Amino acid sequence: MMLDVDDLVVRYGAATALDGVSLRVEPGELVALVGPNGAGKTSLVNAVSGLVRPAAGVVRVSGTVAQVPEGRQMFGDLSVDDNLRLGAWRRRRRNTDAVYELLPDLQRVRRQRADTLSGGQQQMVAVGRALMAEPDLLVVDELSLGLAPLIAADLVRHLARLNADRGTAVLLIEQEVGLAFELCSRAYVLDAGRIVAEGPTERLAAAPELRAAYLGGFDGQETRA
Ligand SMILES: Nc1ncnc2c1ncn2[C@@H]1O[C@H](COP(=O)(O)OP(=O)(O)O)[C@@H](O)[C@H]1O
Ligand SMILES: [Mg+2]
Repeated sequence: MMLDVDDLVVRYGAATALDGVSLRVEPGELVALVGPNGAGKTSLVNAVSGLVRPAAGVVRVSGTVAQVPEGRQMFGDLSVDDNLRLGAWRRRRRNTDAVYELLPDLQRVRRQRADTLSGGQQQMVAVGRALMAEPDLLVVDELSLGLAPLIAADLVRHLARLNADRGTAVLLIEQEVGLAFELCSRAYVLDAGRIVAEGPTERLAAAPELRAAYLGGFDGQETRA
C-alpha cells in the first residue's frame, strides 16, 4: 500500500472536520477525492502530509509524498526556477531539468517572476515544485480551481503522463468531478467529514443518488464532447 489512512479523526477545537475516514492508494494508482466545500478534503491531505495532527486514527505512507497545496502558494516575487528549487529544499540535488522535461511549457518562463504567470502556469509551477521531491505519491488539492476548463484538462493530461511514465501515484482532490473521473479509475466521496461512497469511478458516475447529491450532475458523455 502506498497510502493507508485508517479511521482518521481531525478536529479544530470543538469542531470535527474528519470523523473516522479510511482511504487507500496503491502504488501507481490514480485516485480521486471529491465532495462539497467544507467536506474535509484539505484536512485529509494536510493530515497525510503532516501539516495537521490527527486526533485519532493512523496515516501510513510508504515512500515519498509531495503535496500541491490548495491555492498553489507560490512565492510570487521569486522566479519559476527558484520556486521549483524550493520543492527540493530537503535534497542536495536540486536539478530542475527533469521537471522542465515533464512540463516543457515552464522552460520558456523559468526566469520570470511567478506572479507574472497565468493561473494555469502557476498551477503548473506548483505541480513542478512538488515533483522536485521525486514523490511516489503526488497529492493535488484542487487542481482546476479558478482555471479555464481547457487549461485544467491540459494539467490533467500532464498528471496522466507522469503516472504512465514514472508510475507516480496520484490522489486528486477536485471539484470538477468529470475531470477527476476522467483521470482516476477509483474515487472516494467525502461529505461532512465522512466517506459516503467509494469505488470505481465508472460505477460512481452511474449512481443516480450520488450524481444528484455530490457529483454536480456530472455526465460522462458531456465531458467527452
Ligand atoms: N484551521 C481551521 N480551523 C478551524 N476550522 C477549520 C480549519 N480548517 C478547516 N476548518 C473547518 O473544517 C471543515 C473542513 O474544512 P476543509 O478540510 O478545508 O474542507 P474542504 O477542503 O473539503 O473544503 C470546514 O468546516 C472548515 O470550516
Ligand atoms: Mg479544500
